[in-house]
Amino acid sequence: MIPQQIIARKRDGEALGLEELHDFLTAYLDGAVGDDQMAAFLMAVYFNGLAPAELDTLVTLMMISGEMLERRGDRPGPRVDKHSTGGVGDKTSLVVAPLAAEMGMVVPMMSGRGLGHTGGTLDKLESIPGFRTRVPLDEFNGVLMRIGCAMIGQTDEIAPLDRRLYALRDVTATVPSLPLITASIMSKKLAEGLDGLVLDVKVGRGAFLSRLEDARELARAMVGVGTTRGLSVTAVLSAMDRPLGRAIGNALEVREALECLSGDGPRDFRDLCVELAAEMAVAGGVAAGVEEGRARATETLARGGPMERFMRLADAQGGALDPSRSDFGLPIAPFTAVVAAEADGTVAAIDPLALGYGVIALGGGRTRQDQEIDPRVGFVLRVEVGDRIARGDPLAVVHSATREGLAIGASAVTEAVRLAAGDAPAPLPLVLERVEG
Ligand code: URA
Repeated sequence: MIPQQIIARKRDGEALGLEELHDFLTAYLDGAVGDDQMAAFLMAVYFNGLAPAELDTLVTLMMISGEMLERRGDRPGPRVDKHSTGGVGDKTSLVVAPLAAEMGMVVPMMSGRGLGHTGGTLDKLESIPGFRTRVPLDEFNGVLMRIGCAMIGQTDEIAPLDRRLYALRDVTATVPSLPLITASIMSKKLAEGLDGLVLDVKVGRGAFLSRLEDARELARAMVGVGTTRGLSVTAVLSAMDRPLGRAIGNALEVREALECLSGDGPRDFRDLCVELAAEMAVAGGVAAGVEEGRARATETLARGGPMERFMRLADAQGGALDPSRSDFGLPIAPFTAVVAAEADGTVAAIDPLALGYGVIALGGGRTRQDQEIDPRVGFVLRVEVGDRIARGDPLAVVHSATREGLAIGASAVTEAVRLAAGDAPAPLPLVLERVEG
């Protein structure tokens, strides 16, 4: 196997033999193919894509490059997970994991950190004082068996080829490649040993894929990979043309998720949690259809069991939450300021990208992977698209670590909230499409 020959063939759009692709990837794992050669290969894939059989080989090698989560223990119920492609204000995992567990599923949730302008479940969980997202697989399994859900980050043992390729993609501008995203996400999910999987593919300015056609293509590719491997998988295409819910920023989002688990919180956020839990119930075979799943998820959420289960999960993973306090004992930013509207009008759009980058500017997200983040900072919106407002009405509250940060946050809010004189165009429906295996 001569690496540069394989790179040249992919560069020129030729089909690769599966054996040579296998040898190339294995040689990378062994160190015989370098990062420079792999970076060139990834760029060739970015431009020329992967044929279905090539994608399948990549998925398999990524998956078996590490350990598979063993199905140990005797807790009954299908193993089902939910994965989001990333958005702004997306804290659904915190509600959906205990909700699905309460509905009889076993949820081994493996999540990621914030990426670019999007937030990550791990960063949100770590804003809970003491919460450990790095736990040995044995302990993870113990929590899963006791509580029905457990939440960790990708461990060193799971899909190490993905971790290495992802780091390389991150610095070579090759992240937004549909086959590479498909292989990256599905190899990790397949390593979890699941029965069912629900993919929340975000669409809009705040998502990695802003065009519906691209999101649909990604959803179809991921569903196809899962289905051919015997996994019951469904993708939901959901709106990210505005932030989800009202809170954006790690601890603020955990608080909003806890409010939702307490039967409160913004309607769009709650509706998406119910939808995703319903799809999980169908994928896991505990509901006959989405309608039944929705009814059960709504009823289960209202009864309060998922809140109690999340508290037990947090406690089992070292997190200290106080449900008797309105802030749940989460860290609070020392400075807050209300940003008011400068004119009368209708809220025509709320740009998730401006607020996602606003959180980074306040120190709540990263510009380098090794950066510490401040979990306290962010925004809580006071308006939604379509609201009619008068000059001076509050648009959002900025939460900042410093007094100077308040002005930075205020300008992000002013940039994000667009006012129109007349009626505003309708935002995207919360759930745009569903792709089934
Ligand atoms: N999330 C992943 O895990 N991988 C990607 O490639 C993109 C998003």
